[in-house]
Amino acid sequence: MKPTYYPEPFRIKSVEPIKMLTKMQRKQKIKDADYNVFNLVSEDVYIDLLTDSGTGAMSTAQWAGIMEGDESYAGARCTRHVVANAREIFGFPNIQPVHQGRAAEKVLLPILLNNKKYAISNMHFDTTRAHVELAGARAVDCVVPEALDTSIIADFKGNMDNVRLDELIRKIDPQNIGVVIITVTNNSAGGQPVSVANMRETRKVADKYGIPVMIDAARCFENAFFVKRRETEFKNKSLAAIVKEMFVCADYFTMSCKKDAIVNMGGLIGCRDKAAFELVKQRCISYEGFITYGGMSGRDLEALAIGLKEGMDEDFLRYRIGQMEYLGALLDKAGIAYQSPAGGHAIFVDAKKLLPHIPYYEFPAQALAIELYVEAGIRACDIGSYMLGNDPDTKEQLKADFEFTRLAVPRRVYTQAHLDVVAAALINIKKRASKIKGYEIVEEPPVLRHFTAKLRPLGKE
Ligand code: F0G
Repeated sequence: MKPTYYPEPFRIKSVEPIKMLTKMQRKQKIKDADYNVFNLVSEDVYIDLLTDSGTGAMSTAQWAGIMEGDESYAGARCTRHVVANAREIFGFPNIQPVHQGRAAEKVLLPILLNNKKYAISNMHFDTTRAHVELAGARAVDCVVPEALDTSIIADFKGNMDNVRLDELIRKIDPQNIGVVIITVTNNSAGGQPVSVANMRETRKVADKYGIPVMIDAARCFENAFFVKRRETEFKNKSLAAIVKEMFVCADYFTMSCKKDAIVNMGGLIGCRDKAAFELVKQRCISYEGFITYGGMSGRDLEALAIGLKEGMDEDFLRYRIGQMEYLGALLDKAGIAYQSPAGGHAIFVDAKKLLPHIPYYEFPAQALAIELYVEAGIRACDIGSYMLGNDPDTKEQLKADFEFTRLAVPRRVYTQAHLDVVAAALINIKKRASKIKGYEIVEEPPVLRHFTAKLRPLGKE
């Protein structure tokens, strides 16, 4: 595909200087960081593609909203703005703000999983999986098989495998399943979208067994953009109408607003059921803060109310998803495999293919993330066996379906020239790929280990 680029639908009013260290310095910095990119200090990173979460650039309207923040403990105006906008966008009657996505999971999932043993999802994000497990249940993934082959080009590789979902429910026993979760877009499968037709089918299967459906809505606007482009029924529909159609399929939603709502902090819980919402409010007061601020400052709530609308803008989304397509096209030209077609928020480089000599238990995607830092000061992260961790029962290293090095692009932050630097770095790494070695873990916590584990390169030092 020819690299195309949709120009920025904004101009830049404020800038943040970044600098590039020498290669020698970077080698030392990553060693000092125990080969864990989460331990690098941000000043030592040139292009930070660690995450698109909370890293976006706010607009002039959002910064103005910050000044408008109402910091009252109870009854704050900003909460009413957030709730009104969220009700309008998602069509849910009951909305609770919380401070981020995992806070929403922490408050809601134990309610849905009370006395239940399983949650099934197209794919759980790692914090969602952690909160399912912390609630005493198991998280089962049920994505369509084409998602597992990075070279297959398909429109909706994030979809639920609804036939398998039905089989799984019968096998496990519907009584034991607390919730079916649809993650849009499907982050762990490469930011791949889920079609509305697929969501409707999931809803039908869940209804057959009386199981509630929850949407993990972190990137629901990017998903809606893909639906408009790729699902014929929605070709002429507004993104607002598409988002509504998506959310009709759910009883609950959690949203990390740090992604598609372009805020540095924020989250939402949506509930149709009034009784469940009462429980949500009680838990929110204990864990997050009083219900009218939900662990957020008034100013952050105001920025969120505005960001919810800006994140749905079609011109913005065309440019944004265009950035991934541009980077993807450069990698196509260089013969570097990634989860294709390009995802909504990131390019997920297929480290298994770039570093075929490194087995999963020596973490090829983590090795590639380290090389990207050494090569050009780019910070990316592993979405593979290193992130997946160990089996909770046997404590053995799990083998992930993918070994992705994720290049997550913050919203409205980096330019086309930055993306050119990223592609050039990967091309250079490809040339010396066979010499790159794997890693072993020397220290790790039991849950979400990738944030704090310490590693050591194999066959070096
Ligand atoms: N769900 C999905 C699909 C996510 O991608 C994330 C976060 C969360 C839930 C949790 O939200 O961070 O606000 O608590 N994903 C980030 C990422 C961290 O880098 O993909 P949070």
